[in-house]
Amino acid sequence: MSSVRGVAIVGTGSAVPERVLTNDDLAKMVDTNDEWIRTRTGICERRIADANTATSDLCVLAAKRAIADAGISPGELDLIIVATVTPDMMFPATACLVQDRIGATKAGAFDLSAGCSGFLYGLATGSQFIAAGLYEKVLVIGAETLSKITDWEDRSTCVLFGDGAGAVVLQSAPAGAGVLSVHLGAAGSGGDLLTLPAGGSRRPTTAETVAKREHYIHMSGNEVFKFAVKVMGEASLKALEKCNKTKEDIDFLIPHQANIRIIEAAVKRLNLSPDKVYINLDRYGNTSAASVPVALDEAVKAGKVKKGDVVLLVAFGAGLTWGASVIEWSKG
Ligand code: UT7
Repeated sequence: MSSVRGVAIVGTGSAVPERVLTNDDLAKMVDTNDEWIRTRTGICERRIADANTATSDLCVLAAKRAIADAGISPGELDLIIVATVTPDMMFPATACLVQDRIGATKAGAFDLSAGCSGFLYGLATGSQFIAAGLYEKVLVIGAETLSKITDWEDRSTCVLFGDGAGAVVLQSAPAGAGVLSVHLGAAGSGGDLLTLPAGGSRRPTTAETVAKREHYIHMSGNEVFKFAVKVMGEASLKALEKCNKTKEDIDFLIPHQANIRIIEAAVKRLNLSPDKVYINLDRYGNTSAASVPVALDEAVKAGKVKKGDVVLLVAFGAGLTWGASVIEWSKG
């Protein structure tokens, strides 16, 4: 990004529901087993929101933690972006519910939909408002309660997903530090590989769509897998190229946590040693738009990401979409 103003992440926060659903629990619900899930995906357990918890509830927790970490007050925020495919409802936007509940009275607020790449899209969007000089402080949240749109009778998808939220506060910084590049992409031709078919204007919800279980996630796992392996490496290299860095410059990788085999393929392509990669997939499964910001928050809090580190974030998801960003970590 050749902007006059730099953009830095000055606070991070995350939240996951308390309830743990293990692979053994799932084996009692569908025809699966711990060994299959572990070896094919790397997932051991995931967090599931209770009946009274919606996406905005997790957003509020993560947002409050990120705001406290940034040392600012909610009233200072200029904008709130929530990346999600599981908003509380079709409208109003979940970002508006969050704006009200955290008391960010002067902030604009909107939702953004880019599947599991949503946080990267949100980061890119929020950064531009600051780089352009329009805003000073932007809250970007990636949050999902995928458990609410998961078909718990479909073993090919229900073992994969979990709920959570991650948030970052963006603020202006000296040019040349902070967010060094963003790269976004889409291949809408592959949209039907990962979709929630009913409930929108194309197929409004009816008794028939519910009977056909079209209000749940439908996925061609194998096709998405092949796409993901290809695009994770490519998007990473594009983002590095945009800020004149190479894979040798990467100090730490925060990949979308979808499948350990997809992450391993990206790590191999980028020639990284395993200790430079953050993995929490085993504990949370795939939390879609929440995956990267939750992992980032945990990595930062665990002291794995240090001031001056070149951090690469990369994700892929429904759309199909992908996104990557190179950040020079500036928070001490
Ligand atoms: O963030 C974006 C979201 N999506 C993804 O990241 C998904 C990417 N894809 C994947 O991670 C993998 O494709 C999966 C984990 C979903 C599936 O792994 P796979 O190695 O591609 O397996 P497969 O779909 O080719 O299925 C292999 C076998 C099939 O049985 P047959 O036809 O070989 O007899 C499936 O029916 O495994 C069977 N299977 C299961 N067996 C036990 C599928 N799901 C399960 C299950 N437990 N949960």
